[in-house]
Amino acid sequence: MQPFVFHNPTEIVFGVDTADKVGKYAARQGGKALLVYGRNSIKTTGLYDRVTASLQAAGLSWVDHGGVKSNPVLSHVREGVAVAKREQVDVVVAVGGGSVLDESKAIAAGALCDHDVWEFFLQAKVEKALPLVTVLTLAATGSEMNSGGVVTNENTAQKFNIGSPLLFPKTSILDPALTYTVPADYTAYSAVDAISHIIEGYFTSNDQATPLQDRFVEGLVKTIMESTEQILQQPDHADARATMMWSATWALNGLSTAGIGLYQFPNHMIEHSLSAMYDIAHGAGLSIVIPGWMDYAATQNPAKFAQFARRVFDCELSDDLECARYGIEALKTWFHSIGSPVSLAQGNIPDEEIGAIADNAVMLARKWGLKAYTAEVIADILSRCRS
Ligand code: NZQ
Ligand code: ZN
Repeated sequence: MQPFVFHNPTEIVFGVDTADKVGKYAARQGGKALLVYGRNSIKTTGLYDRVTASLQAAGLSWVDHGGVKSNPVLSHVREGVAVAKREQVDVVVAVGGGSVLDESKAIAAGALCDHDVWEFFLQAKVEKALPLVTVLTLAATGSEMNSGGVVTNENTAQKFNIGSPLLFPKTSILDPALTYTVPADYTAYSAVDAISHIIEGYFTSNDQATPLQDRFVEGLVKTIMESTEQILQQPDHADARATMMWSATWALNGLSTAGIGLYQFPNHMIEHSLSAMYDIAHGAGLSIVIPGWMDYAATQNPAKFAQFARRVFDCELSDDLECARYGIEALKTWFHSIGSPVSLAQGNIPDEEIGAIADNAVMLARKWGLKAYTAEVIADILSRCRS
């Protein structure tokens, strides 16, 4: 176990119908809100009316900033920053999935600085940010209880992240009933994303003596798989949706990586190029990359990959590398079974573009200090994702 500091200040309000309490929590942060949301779902589900009724009842005024797209883009963030500044809002209220929450974090930081918001994604430090209150409608990214956000600069095809302790939401409302309407494809992509968040650290940590964190990850993976299968059978399965929602939050709130020492997020580094260049859903990009990356990485740490296969997929093979390969195939088969693509071909990404994708991913590899991931190495990993 390595030394660590764990501090997560986000207040979680969990339960069916908690969405109607958003006004109470937002009012603690000020009297005027920027209400950020996505494209259609908030209106078709009736959630917009519930949220605005709650804001009104709590005495807040608000200005809308809707239309956030999945894989949010810089131009729309800049529009939000301009509205927040012009209207002098006190608090950002984000209602949606990870894309809405991430764009809201960027707006919260951009609203209180004089320079362009993209500077925060390159190197500028966030010194001030508006408080953020969220109502989560899709359980996947963990953005509701972490301090990061991801936005694509459409001009440069860079999907980069912003991060600061100031960007933890003050309060996040997790009402699992809001996720009953999430369609089957995004339900599958969310499962892949949440699993990816916990296995990145698990497989890349430089400390092997972390039995608590290991079992936490293995238990979460099994739980996410079980809940996802129940949800795909029955989309309004209340227990499964609630379990999935809380699991996805735990998967990226800092808990699973506390004490594991140094770790990396190579699958995310490569996937961000797929969604930046092809606008593929984040979880769908991950299910393409993960089996190929595991195939590349298993030989470097076969014991850990074998442990995963034995504990998650009940592999009984005694040879570590054979067992590791069994686990990789089992995970890939499971991704496929829930309807997430497991090859570049299934994601409609042409093989011939592997070189261009690798060149794009290297920008993030450098930013994240992943020195081993040269364009050649990334191209090698992508070539293992062909079929
Ligand atoms: O725009 P609307 O109409 O709301 O539709 C959305 C969107 O099309 C829809 N949706 C959301 N809630 C719904 C719903 N449809 C029906 N019922 C509901 N209750 O779902 C679609 C996808 O939404 P999106 O927010 O894009 O999905 P997700 O939560 O997976 O977020 C993906 C983004 O988060 C980033 C990803 O890179 C991607 O840009 N990530 C953020 C992270 C973080 N902040 O910590 C970490 C992750 O690794 C990830 O990178
Ligand atoms: Zn992710």
